[in-house]
Amino acid sequence: MNNRGRFGSRLGVVMASAGSAVGLGNIWRFPTEVGQNGGAAFILVYIVFVLFLALPVMVSEFVIGRSSGTNIVHAFRKLAPAKWWMIIGFMGVLAGFLVLSFYSVVAGWTLKYMVDAVANRISRNDPGQIFNAFVSDTWSPLFYMAIFLLLTHLVVIRGIGGGIERYSKLMMPLLLLIIFILVGCSLSMSGSVDGIRFLLQPDLTKVTPDVILSAMGQAFFSLSVGIGCLATYASYFSKNMNLVGSAVHVCTIDTLVAIMSGFIIFPAVFSVEGVSVDAGAGLVFITLPHVFSSAFSHMPLLGYIFSTLFYLLLLLAALTSSISMHEICTAYVSEHYKLTRKRAATLVTLAYLVLGTACSLSFGPWKDYTLAGMTVFDWFDFATAMFIMPIGGIFISLFAGWVLERKLLTDELTNNGTLKMRGLKVLVFLIRWVAPIGVGMVFLDQVVKLIEN
Ligand code: PHE
Repeated sequence: MNNRGRFGSRLGVVMASAGSAVGLGNIWRFPTEVGQNGGAAFILVYIVFVLFLALPVMVSEFVIGRSSGTNIVHAFRKLAPAKWWMIIGFMGVLAGFLVLSFYSVVAGWTLKYMVDAVANRISRNDPGQIFNAFVSDTWSPLFYMAIFLLLTHLVVIRGIGGGIERYSKLMMPLLLLIIFILVGCSLSMSGSVDGIRFLLQPDLTKVTPDVILSAMGQAFFSLSVGIGCLATYASYFSKNMNLVGSAVHVCTIDTLVAIMSGFIIFPAVFSVEGVSVDAGAGLVFITLPHVFSSAFSHMPLLGYIFSTLFYLLLLLAALTSSISMHEICTAYVSEHYKLTRKRAATLVTLAYLVLGTACSLSFGPWKDYTLAGMTVFDWFDFATAMFIMPIGGIFISLFAGWVLERKLLTDELTNNGTLKMRGLKVLVFLIRWVAPIGVGMVFLDQVVKLIEN
């Protein structure tokens, strides 16, 4: 077990786990969802779900990962009395494959936009048409996706301490610094007040069942919970790491980054006339280039810096997340088939290239291959965020709360009683009851709606 590697420090643990959580989900998906689901009211519901549903699942993952000290499939095999629990582990590995496949496509677009921003080639005219022409092309999005996967691969093959921890400790502070600079920039734009109001003044009439469902899917996706990603990381934690404290840190950092991304994007968007906040997935690739060129037309240098930093931020965030998805699969493949990390990672990367290609082509030559109106890309996104992650979340919390011996659970949470924890009873209650029932209810509601349609 010792040659599996370990995180060397508490800072490393928090930076790597927060790196997994903070990603395109915060900077690209969150503002998109906020824009489409009514602003501040969505954020309020989102925070409630983070606290009561996603945090308990995250703590459960930490417990399962650290107490088993192995990949997510073997963790269930080791800890569970019944064999079928392994299915939850397999679902996690499968989701690890599906999420990174579509994720790397969007990350590839980000890379391309960053290159363009550095070269000062972000176009002022008709950004929508330019974006659509790019994503529907065959080769160029594939090229950028492959480079992104290669970058991910290069970090993962270096292992835990020398790869994931080292690069997370480097990239996360840089990412946080860029966020602060950009928030400052965005808030200083004229017209930013409307954007701030949109983010801070909740209109509770906007909280519909759809908003609730989207907020839950977003909470799970953004915190990387439900598919054993953080359990995999926790299998490399040392025994004196404070699991609950680390989970609280990760949730806090992730939520702050999501909200700050809102503060970067909406004040900027509101300061330009004729731009809409509910532009959907194109918000950061179509709306923002338009904002950059209009808002900074008199200060091109500032526009250049803003756009370059923004896409660099998006790229760093995507990379610290993609390595964690890759690691779910690499840990399993290398431990199950007894392969070296390098070999296992290479096989996993090749599989990503194939699946990612299918996702990328579904914007171009394969866009007519649909099932129930959805392309391969849409299916991967939908199946993971709306199904596998919530179902995984339900079973993971049930497992930690009901199947694991109660003593093992509290020993892990308190490091064998050495940590004093005031809210321990409340936390155990959240893990046993609130998380599984809460996620279950929102999930069932969605299934009923799907069937009705
Ligand atoms: N949490 C990541 C994000 O916000 C995405 C992710 C999902 C990472 C699942 C790992 C596992 O972008």
